[in-house]
Amino acid sequence: MTSDVRGVIARSKGEPVEVTTVLVPDPGPGEALVAVQACGVCHTDLHYREGGIGEDFPYLLGHEAAGVVEAVGDGVTSVTPGDFVILNWRAVCGECRACRGGRPWYCFATHNARQKMTLEDGTVLSPALGIGAFVDKTLVAAGQCTKVDPAVPPEVAGLLGCGVMAGLGAAINTAPVTRGDSVAVIGCGGVGDAAILGARLAGARTIIGVDIDPRKLEWARQFGATHVINSRETDPVERIRELTGGNGADVVIEAIGRPETYLQAFYGRDLAGTVVLVGVPTPDMRLEAPLLDFFGRGGALKSSWYGDCLPERDFPMLTDLYLQGRLPLEKFVSETIALDQVESAFAKMERGEVLRSVVKL
Ligand code: APR
Ligand code: ZN
Ligand code: ZN
Repeated sequence: MTSDVRGVIARSKGEPVEVTTVLVPDPGPGEALVAVQACGVCHTDLHYREGGIGEDFPYLLGHEAAGVVEAVGDGVTSVTPGDFVILNWRAVCGECRACRGGRPWYCFATHNARQKMTLEDGTVLSPALGIGAFVDKTLVAAGQCTKVDPAVPPEVAGLLGCGVMAGLGAAINTAPVTRGDSVAVIGCGGVGDAAILGARLAGARTIIGVDIDPRKLEWARQFGATHVINSRETDPVERIRELTGGNGADVVIEAIGRPETYLQAFYGRDLAGTVVLVGVPTPDMRLEAPLLDFFGRGGALKSSWYGDCLPERDFPMLTDLYLQGRLPLEKFVSETIALDQVESAFAKMERGEVLRSVVKL
């Protein structure tokens, strides 16, 4: 049996997305069928539709989601029907060299569902980041489902499935920020603001938000930035140094993914400090800087994939902190929208009007 449901697809490069009927197979061994309740609109969905990630059209978009497990296939014991889960796009395999080496957040062979979701004519859909969640029901690998407390509203829980986890994790897992640190975050969109929140959670003493948009800087303050810098008006490297006793920040998190802002992060950092790149660059981007500075300034230059998260460890912990009132994740939800409003949400995202538009199903 298959379910036929509504889903948002990108049929071809650059064309507006559309709502259409999607056929979802019943779960096979190791798979789970999830009734999606909420799914955030992320830049990556837009990149898929613009052909920036691959040419495997049509794509079933959406990947930042929470919902309820409806059915599971043979051998699945980690979740059962009725469980409230957050979907993740890095279900670790447990067997690759990273997993066996004790660093599963780097897993090089993450799992997805084996069976394919299709259009009514049988055309196979490519699910965004191996999920595809702008859809009433989606088929994933059971390991992509992480059970959390159902008291968390789905539009909030789903955020942890991608951007917000990436930013939080860049601060608390990758850097990692510790009590008393000075931290600068360059780019205060959803990812950067989550990094600010993570820095606050970890006990940072000074948290500096850098952006070129005054509205974003105001939001950054609301998430816990102790200082903000409009880098269109003020040299951010000089100002970060001024705010940190002339030294630079212990940790600088780059949450845009551009060479010029990466260099700001590099030079805004204290000697032997840490730079974390969580913004995703495009293939054409190049970095030019004196190699001697990379030696002479020491320290650590890290990249953060999905906030180096382990869903099983991090999602239930973060949702519990939310329920205790210690992590205001609801502030990321700028609006909730219907399935047929994804295209207009892309436009709002491009104009910088929202942190997250979240589709409620
Ligand atoms: N200097 C400072 N800030 C900038 C600059 C710049 N040169 N260019 C853009 N910004 C700011 C924007 O004003 C915006 O507030 O960076 C922020 C980027 O935020 P969003 O567009 O909302 O993106 P976000 O969802 O936060 O993702 C950021 O992380 O996961 C990746 O693919 C994602 O590369 C993207 C990055
Ligand atoms: Zn692995
Ligand atoms: Zn995403």
